Amino acid sequence: MDKKVFSGIQPTGEVHVGNYVGAIRNWIKLQDEYESMYCVVDYHSITIPYEAAELPDRVLELGATLMACGLDPEKAILFVQSSVPEHTELTWFLTSITSIGALERMTQFKDKSARQRGNTFAGLMNYPVLQTADIIIYKANLVPVGEDQVQHLELAREITRRFNAMFGDVFPEPQPLLTSGARVMALNDPTAKMSKSVEGSYITITEEPESIRKKIRRAVTDPGPQGGDMGPGVKNLFILLEGFAEPDVVAQFKEDYSNQKLRYADLKNTLAEAIVSYTTPIREKRNELLSRPEELKEILAAGGDKARAQAKETMKEVRERMGFFMPVR
Ligand code: TYM
Repeated sequence: MDKKVFSGIQPTGEVHVGNYVGAIRNWIKLQDEYESMYCVVDYHSITIPYEAAELPDRVLELGATLMACGLDPEKAILFVQSSVPEHTELTWFLTSITSIGALERMTQFKDKSARQRGNTFAGLMNYPVLQTADIIIYKANLVPVGEDQVQHLELAREITRRFNAMFGDVFPEPQPLLTSGARVMALNDPTAKMSKSVEGSYITITEEPESIRKKIRRAVTDPGPQGGDMGPGVKNLFILLEGFAEPDVVAQFKEDYSNQKLRYADLKNTLAEAIVSYTTPIREKRNELLSRPEELKEILAAGGDKARAQAKETMKEVRERMGFFMPVR
């Protein structure tokens, strides 16, 4: 059987270069190789405080950004999670076979709930169950993500195994697919991951050139002795350089580092210009797409129709296996 790809991204803030290098670039490559589905996970985005009035723009902006990055709705199914309410039905079923202890052990849950200071809602804890449902409802095998999502995918595999053991072999076990940039670190603190929710840590994929230059200039390096292992700040700049510059440019800077001749100012200038020239067409294309919001909405809705047809088929099978016999009319 041919493998199928599924991945998702939350409409919380702008897409940053970590999302791009860690996941989205891989999505664009995979859409040529596999049957692929990519989802704007708006249900996930409400697990932290949010403004309902802002959600529609965030969803459309993210759809536009993904298409501007090169996601092609003719090649992959691009859709919004809330177009397919079956995701939530499967989530409910899966919560009945998921251990609370496992959910409480998730690093992302621990981090995010600590930030809510004791006011944590159940949705945040169940976030990985919804993520599992997203993937398996389409019987996807491969999940291109950044490294921070590996733990959620381990849990997804565990839940899938339990379902199959209890109700019969319905779902394949999904596997994470990582790239070399699977962990892009924060520019202001290279020991923490680049994150949408930490100001100063990221550069967005649609950021203005002057702001990109300023942020790269200020990025923390850790100028130790060159030639041996790189410190986390320098290593992070190289991960970004690999993401945005030509291979020969990367090779030259690596050689300079080995020969202890690297000038950090040169590395930063080259990196900033590489990001600027790589992202300028993306920024322009995104603005163009956003100037026709109705068209954009229609493209996403059409993706939702295709996804929903598949999800309904799976849910028919799941309901039957789990003993729900009433027709859904
Ligand atoms: P989100 O929106 O937080 O992140 C989207 C993707 O970007 C990756 N990523 C990174 N990669 C490298 N370095 C970083 N600093 C960095 N920060 C983020 C994430 O790993 C992710 O691949 N839970 C998912 C959304 C989701 C999902 C799914 C993914 C919901 N359902 C089903 C796969 C399959 C998330 O965290 O998205």
